[in-house]
Amino acid sequence: MLHGILAPHYFLDTRFQMFVSCQRTNQYKPGLAWFCAVPLVVAVALLYAGGFTTSIEAGMAFLDWPLSNGTLNPEGWLEDRDMRAEHSHRLLGMVVGLLTIIMVFWTWRSEERAWLRRLTVLCLAAVILQGIMGGMRVRFDQLNTGAENNLTAQAFVLLHAMGAQIVLCLLVSIALAQSRNWIERAAGLSEPAGLSIRYLGIGTCLLLLLQILLGAIVRHGNAGLALVSFPQSTPNGDWLPTYWNWAVAVNFTHRAGALLVCLAVLAFVAQVWADKNTRQAFGPVALLPLLLLVVQIFLGATLVWTRLNEHSATLHTLTGAFLLASCWMLTFLSFRLPLRGFPPESLAENDPNHSNDPAPASA
Ligand code: HEM
Repeated sequence: MLHGILAPHYFLDTRFQMFVSCQRTNQYKPGLAWFCAVPLVVAVALLYAGGFTTSIEAGMAFLDWPLSNGTLNPEGWLEDRDMRAEHSHRLLGMVVGLLTIIMVFWTWRSEERAWLRRLTVLCLAAVILQGIMGGMRVRFDQLNTGAENNLTAQAFVLLHAMGAQIVLCLLVSIALAQSRNWIERAAGLSEPAGLSIRYLGIGTCLLLLLQILLGAIVRHGNAGLALVSFPQSTPNGDWLPTYWNWAVAVNFTHRAGALLVCLAVLAFVAQVWADKNTRQAFGPVALLPLLLLVVQIFLGATLVWTRLNEHSATLHTLTGAFLLASCWMLTFLSFRLPLRGFPPESLAENDPNHSNDPAPASA
């Protein structure tokens, strides 16, 4: 027995148990809530840096990974634009990773909601995987492998682009679930949001993911100028392309996808507004996707008119991610269960029978 207690692993296990299990509550924790917003903010900067790196075609500024030219501080990286863009992207990735690790520990230490603790671990796994995808994109580039084509690296580029959206949505979910509005006001919902709103929200997010994937294929397949006019497909005013190859097809599908996205976002927002419960809870916030949609289409048009200006391309990538994140935010909020005894003055947070866990809401 004494031997067991003196054994280092026993000591460490006990310390870890004490560290993670003390003072867990499902109440609003201002420190943790604000901290959870930090990786989200840095992730936005990370997305910008990644988008800009792609726009100026600086993704292969360093041929190695995880280090850059064998170091964390490569010579001359601040002076050279390509190196600055790619290395900032890598450093910001590391910062998001470190912040996410702290978020996981803090959440496991003080958060009672098990689903939320697990969500932070999932988020950390996604961040790590995302870094690895970025690294594989570099390591498998034909500059490194000498391959005849660059399809393997391109596949990693697409996975990396989609992974970024998933990480962003996970960070949004965690930040929302820690917010005072979620915990103490049940996101403002007085009764569960209708199933149509939830399904429409999920459908809109999936459609947006597909549209972003198409955008990534257009961008990384150099098909951005396969159609040189906007809104028509040709300078002669034809709405449909007059010749077809894979670049035209994917470019045109991305444009047609934008129409579908518009319809889906409009229907989703209209549904949120049509329902008094959700309109009162998050009606004004639901206008954000509409605003982003207008900006996104304008930026798409600008891309064509300016022949792929690097800043328009970066902002178009970023706004696409914001659009998805805003629709996901509304969808996630619509899964929140109302508190017992609404209005919120009679909070159910101290009621041991009440759960803040949104999972049963779908049951
Ligand atoms: C409204 C919904 C739209 C969304 C969500 C969206 C999203 C995106 C995203 C995320 C990318 C970059 C993907 C990446 O690099 O990872 C992209 C690329 C692109 N999008 Fe869109 N887009 C939309 C509408 C449009 C429209 C209306 C146009 C007009 C022509 C357009 C033109 C382009 C072009 C040309 C590229 C490639 C840019 C480049 O080569 O640098 N997009 N889109």
